[in-house]
Amino acid sequence: MQHTQFLAVVALLAQAALSFPTLKTTRSCAYTCGSNCYTNSSVTAAQAEGYKLYKSGNTNDDYPHQYHDYEGFNFPVSGEYYEYPIMSSGGVFTSGSPGADRVVFNGQDELAGLITHTGASGDDFKECTS
Ligand SMILES: *[C@@H]1O[C@H](CO)[C@@H](O)[C@H](O)[C@H]1NC(C)=O
Repeated sequence: MQHTQFLAVVALLAQAALSFPTLKTTRSCAYTCGSNCYTNSSVTAAQAEGYKLYKSGNTNDDYPHQYHDYEGFNFPVSGEYYEYPIMSSGGVFTSGSPGADRVVFNGQDELAGLITHTGASGDDFKECTS
């Protein structure tokens, strides 16, 4: 195989590898926070970790903590509400920087929704789209 042909094949493979996950995640976004896409399973995983800590009275780097809804979002479930980071990296938050996005749940382990600092001023939140 010639050098230029080889490079063309490599370029095609790289393109395929880059575009396939993008298509896949775009389709399965249950929530979008800024440009971050979250599947139902990542929401479930973040909420499970947050609720487990809430129930046991423990925290990871101060999370979960009560979310007071100063923004006045009209959540589908009643409060009190608690917020726990949901990570765009895909893993479940354990410590360190919490990023911009949060899952909000109540004391009955009901999902209220996802909120984000992205696009909001100061410490305010915006609702993620679903
Ligand atoms: C996520 O779960 C909700 C509630 O079960 C469902 O309505 C929605 O279609 C799911 N979204 C995706 C992208 O799977």
